[in-house]
Amino acid sequence: MGVGLADVPVLPLDEAFALTAEFKADGCAQKVSLGAGVYRDEQGDPWVLPSVKKVRQQISLHQTPNLDHEYLPIQGSEPFLKLARDLILGESLSPKGNLTSIQTISGTGANHVGAQFLARHLHPKHVFISDPTWSNHHLIWTIAAPNVTRKTYPYYNAADRSLDFEGWVATLEREAVENDVVVLHACAHNPTGLDPTHAQWKFLAELFRRKKLFAFFDSAYQGFATGDLDLDAWAVRHFQEVLFGLEECPDHEEGPSGLCIAQSFAKNFGLYGERVGAFHLSLPPSTPTSGAYSQLLQLTRAEISNPPLFGARIVTTVLSNLELRSQWEQDLLEMASRVRNVRGLLRKEIEHRLGSGSWSHLESQTGMFSYTGLSEAQVLRLKNMHHVYLMRNGRASLSGVNESNVKYIAEAVSEVVSNEPE
Ligand SMILES: Cc1ncc(COP(=O)(O)O)c(C=O)c1O
Repeated sequence: MGVGLADVPVLPLDEAFALTAEFKADGCAQKVSLGAGVYRDEQGDPWVLPSVKKVRQQISLHQTPNLDHEYLPIQGSEPFLKLARDLILGESLSPKGNLTSIQTISGTGANHVGAQFLARHLHPKHVFISDPTWSNHHLIWTIAAPNVTRKTYPYYNAADRSLDFEGWVATLEREAVENDVVVLHACAHNPTGLDPTHAQWKFLAELFRRKKLFAFFDSAYQGFATGDLDLDAWAVRHFQEVLFGLEECPDHEEGPSGLCIAQSFAKNFGLYGERVGAFHLSLPPSTPTSGAYSQLLQLTRAEISNPPLFGARIVTTVLSNLELRSQWEQDLLEMASRVRNVRGLLRKEIEHRLGSGSWSHLESQTGMFSYTGLSEAQVLRLKNMHHVYLMRNGRASLSGVNESNVKYIAEAVSEVVSNEPE
């Protein structure tokens, strides 16, 4: 038998990052990137949020020569964690909950440490992941929790481009057992841009309580979906109230063993490369958090020792200063409104060229992405013939659209729709 690493199988590249590399290497002047899930301004450039720029000035070496670069504690920055918790749960709910939090390597790290922790200590039989989803969910659970069986719940009706709520509920009713984990996108579902209504979230929360399912909220787009931080956190806060009796529970029935939140500050602060995030675990009022906290610390110690400082410093400064916070809320609104605006423009331009068929889904979907409904063959033709890049499943990151390229993109989409059968 061979010794060594010569036979290690070569894996395919990650699609999102491979697409970005291909785009960068493309020499065509008219090329358009609708692949990466990052915000771009009207000129197609990365956008450093004005609120973030102000903080960067404040914490420059010149302004604060005594600022050091010491290690954070294993759990991360306590002021950051409190502000992060208040942001997602609201200042009225967060102090009442039985919560424990650690700082993570952005949303990915929070998903990863959450999966590891739950696999070791909750021992769910299954984890349910939406079909489709952010592809890293599958990878994370495969690698961090190999003993938990991955299942999917239907999320999308391709026929009418709607949320498959009935299919979702029926799957959980039929297949989920006590302590199973269900990964939920808190808002701006990636990739479909379809979120449940408040009534549907309420229905789900009752189902989770009755079946004692563990809700794993992935919150990567708070404030980015609608421009309203509270609205984008509505589902998480509702579950928190319903599951842990902060709302009157008439039958005093015991609910699930907990819920958790993987929180990212990559998109809503434009701090993609700084890797700022948090993992929050919320337990029923009678359950002590000390054991869970100590285990989360150990997982963190083994993986990263302690989280990075710079991005957390920026987020903490913005969230704790009234003026900066209000600037940040304006920044969020600007990003959300620009994406909403180009949704309408692109729809109009495509419908105008095609003459028939509705592209209303471009406008009705929410957040950074549109699940365009383009087939894989059409996506390939868009790239090869027109230098317009999007994910194979037809997901387009709409922040790559602007007033200067919208006609070019619409022309390209109309050409492939007319000439490339689905
Ligand atoms: C649904 C979802 N969860 C989590 C993330 C994590 O992102 P990050 O690790 O950059 O915070 C993303 C990023 O695209 C996402 O779309």
